[in-house]
Amino acid sequence: MKQRDRKKMAVITLGCQMNRHDSERIAGALEYDVTEKREDADFLLINTCTVRDKAEQKFFSLLGRLRPLKANNRNLVIGVAGCVAQDRGEDIIRREPMVDLVIGTRAMDRTPEMLERFYETGEPQVDTSDSSTHDEYPMKRESEISAWVSIMQGCDNRCSYCIVPDTRGRETSRPAESILGEIRALARDGYKEVTLLGQNVNSYGAGLWPRMDFARLLRQVSGVDGLERIRFVTSHPKDLTDDLINAMGELPNVAPALHLPMQSGSDRVLDMMRRGYTVDHYFDRMEKLRAKVADIAITSDIIVGFPGETEEDFEATAAAIHRARFDNIFLFKFSPRRGTPAAELGGRVDPVVLGARFDRIMRIQKKITAEKHEAWVGREVDIIVEGPSKKNQAVYTGRTAHNLLVHFQSHIDYTGKTIRVRIKQAGNYSLRGIHC
Ligand code: 5AD
Ligand code: SF4
Repeated sequence: MKQRDRKKMAVITLGCQMNRHDSERIAGALEYDVTEKREDADFLLINTCTVRDKAEQKFFSLLGRLRPLKANNRNLVIGVAGCVAQDRGEDIIRREPMVDLVIGTRAMDRTPEMLERFYETGEPQVDTSDSSTHDEYPMKRESEISAWVSIMQGCDNRCSYCIVPDTRGRETSRPAESILGEIRALARDGYKEVTLLGQNVNSYGAGLWPRMDFARLLRQVSGVDGLERIRFVTSHPKDLTDDLINAMGELPNVAPALHLPMQSGSDRVLDMMRRGYTVDHYFDRMEKLRAKVADIAITSDIIVGFPGETEEDFEATAAAIHRARFDNIFLFKFSPRRGTPAAELGGRVDPVVLGARFDRIMRIQKKITAEKHEAWVGREVDIIVEGPSKKNQAVYTGRTAHNLLVHFQSHIDYTGKTIRVRIKQAGNYSLRGIHC
């Protein structure tokens, strides 16, 4: 096809890093040019999230706002992928007939065939089948510096509030050789950082032969020449082994940062959530991490207002937040999800009480995060420069190994380079530095 004849696609991604990576993969499967301008697109892909009701509502209201786009361009094909697609299937088209393709979480690689069939027949296409996806696939990546690498699909845990095991399916680990092959190629292409992605990376390797586990994979990834930083999400406290903690402490290019969702500070609630650990176990892991990985940044997810959460349970969570001194948290109000056991539980927390609990945890954490940020002032840190900031071209943005954003002024474009900055000022969300 001649360059100017190539079709164009635009992508809107909602939700987690996994979704952003899936968008890269769908874009990679198509021989379309990616455009930022939705009105120029022949194909608009919306990659969706349904982890909480709010995320799903965001998608449906977005669709509403996109109606004029379709009205102005009858040839525009709209595809919906991701967790809402998997969960709602054909319902999406019944509700919003402007949607042409519903691409389930295991149908991403079949997007080209779905589009072709749509063009041939004019009939909407839905694929929410369970057939497995490939391990190796082309990709149109968002960044030339930092890459996501999928190491597993699905989740076999059954946290009682979570819809993800239904939308993402059973857990399957990708063979290590395939992962390493992709990472070696990325390093050769000049990538500096990789983030290994999985719903629960700590259980990586189950079912693989020869036997494999996440700590071993991390050691092998760390040995790939040229990689400066390795990150991974998400970890589960029940599966976080001493071996992995030791590996994090030993491997210099593994970032000293860990996202370790605690969810609640009450054993009673953790049990109802079916998380498979106690608060004591969580703190045991945390202390070990802090002892073995110098200066480690630990972030977490917390849910308030789980059904049956009493004042006492909530106070236990507040106390745990004080004690843990997380670098930051993602805080959520419990949201009942279709088909999950927790959605059937009685004892829903009154919305006013829920709001107050949410605000209280937010306040506690904000203060801790501010103190943690402040502690960086005066220190010198290495950052990988991501590029000019959107608001001001003379201000560049980089990220520390601890995953903090640093803005600094520069007339030289250091994008993709690692530079040392001295932190001068701390804000709520980022730091300000000067190039040393
Ligand atoms: N309600 C609120 N928060 C939820 N999460 C997952 N499911 C729900 C739910 N039903 C949160 C958890 C998880 C994060 C990705 O989203 O904290 O770790
Ligand atoms: Fe959901 Fe629990 Fe699996 Fe995370 S580990 S995706 S919270 S079921």
